[in-house]
Amino acid sequence: MANTSGFFTPSVPSLRRKIQPTIGISRSGFCFSEGSCRRVVCSSGIEGAQKHVSPSESGVPKLVSKGCKLVGCGSAVPTLSVSNDDLARIVDTSDEWISVRTGIRNRRVISGKDSLRNLAVEAARKALEMADVDPNDLDLILMCTSTPEDLFGGAPQVQRDLGCTKTPLAYDITAACSGFVLGLVSAACHIRGGGFRNVLVIGADGLSRFVDWSDRGTCILFGDAAGALLVQACDAEEDGLLSFDLHSDGEGGRHLTASIKDNKTDELLSSNGSVLDFPPKRFSYSCIQMNGKEVFRFAVRCVPQSIESALEKAGLTASSIDWLLLHQANQRIIDAVATRLEVPQEQVISNLANYGNTSAASIPLALDEAVRSGKVKPGHTIAAAGFGAGLTWGSAIIRWG
Ligand code: ACO
Repeated sequence: MANTSGFFTPSVPSLRRKIQPTIGISRSGFCFSEGSCRRVVCSSGIEGAQKHVSPSESGVPKLVSKGCKLVGCGSAVPTLSVSNDDLARIVDTSDEWISVRTGIRNRRVISGKDSLRNLAVEAARKALEMADVDPNDLDLILMCTSTPEDLFGGAPQVQRDLGCTKTPLAYDITAACSGFVLGLVSAACHIRGGGFRNVLVIGADGLSRFVDWSDRGTCILFGDAAGALLVQACDAEEDGLLSFDLHSDGEGGRHLTASIKDNKTDELLSSNGSVLDFPPKRFSYSCIQMNGKEVFRFAVRCVPQSIESALEKAGLTASSIDWLLLHQANQRIIDAVATRLEVPQEQVISNLANYGNTSAASIPLALDEAVRSGKVKPGHTIAAAGFGAGLTWGSAIIRWG
């Protein structure tokens, strides 16, 4: 149970030393698997040796052996719908080009009274309602976003708007289109190692605000949305995060950026160090700049590897999952990954046509629609993967309900 400052205090102080979660940092990534009476230590990444130790063998107290289950989801999208034909009126493109190359037909764009925060709050309320959890029973809110409406983060405002007067902690996670997978894994770590009970993971992004609407190579891709998932502590037998596999590569980050504009700050100082001009001009961010071909290649190469690695850690194969749920970036990427993993089309979740690439929101938005439509049922196993700017990518093998 989380105390008011958000940290678990074991009743026996010496326990704290014993309950370090089993986390391995690998050469090529970060991996962790704990649940279903299985503990996996990754000492050397995807290609490394794995040691399977059951909680009883390791002598780790039951406290850390507990699992986390996925008990509620929700989503929200802005009112304004923008079709491919609408875009063809402002840039040299066509519905045919966009739908054939990407699978996207519509996207939602924040306008008027919509705000990212309101979308996040709406999605969060729906997830809490589905899980039948009171906002004040939340121990932690993780807001996965790269486009907060306040530079210092949005999670505490969502905490306030939800009326969480007793929730000790809310903070943001920035990892673009991989944000939600990272948030989910972080929630699990807080539950398994930190004693938290109810963690709300929100994926929310308003990338339309950072799109160059005159660049047909990028403006056709993105939309805005929010999705939320309630992750709850449970017994190890009910665990809903079977394994995961996370990576980042700053070297490839140049292929997809929305970085701060160069303000020539060095010209504020003369060669002898005296101040030439002060204060500096206000900084602002550039629009999204992307080498689409490189990002495409990266996704098609790295995502299947990551999913295969996560499946192996969970002791599963692609043929044993019920659903494949990828970050919704491009239908051709989704199809290529499904083909590589030999997952049949009817087991692939996709709502990209209606919303485009909604960054950190895309996985919980698609999951929410699939759960509410009855596609995804309690007990179903899902291989989920996010990928995008950073570069970052990662997978999680999850069980719904
Ligand atoms: N309409 C018409 N023509 C277009 C358009 C458009 N909207 N966009 C580009 N073209 C043209 C190009 O100018 C080019 O013309 P040319 O051959 O005369 O030079 C031609 O179409 C081919 O362009 P490519 O960029 O090679 O097209 P490609 O097939 O690679 O598709 C796309 C581009 C859709 C962007 C694809 O590369 C892609 O989806 N990449 C991955 C993006 C992604 O997954 N991002 C995820 C992360 S997002 C995040 O993290 C924030």
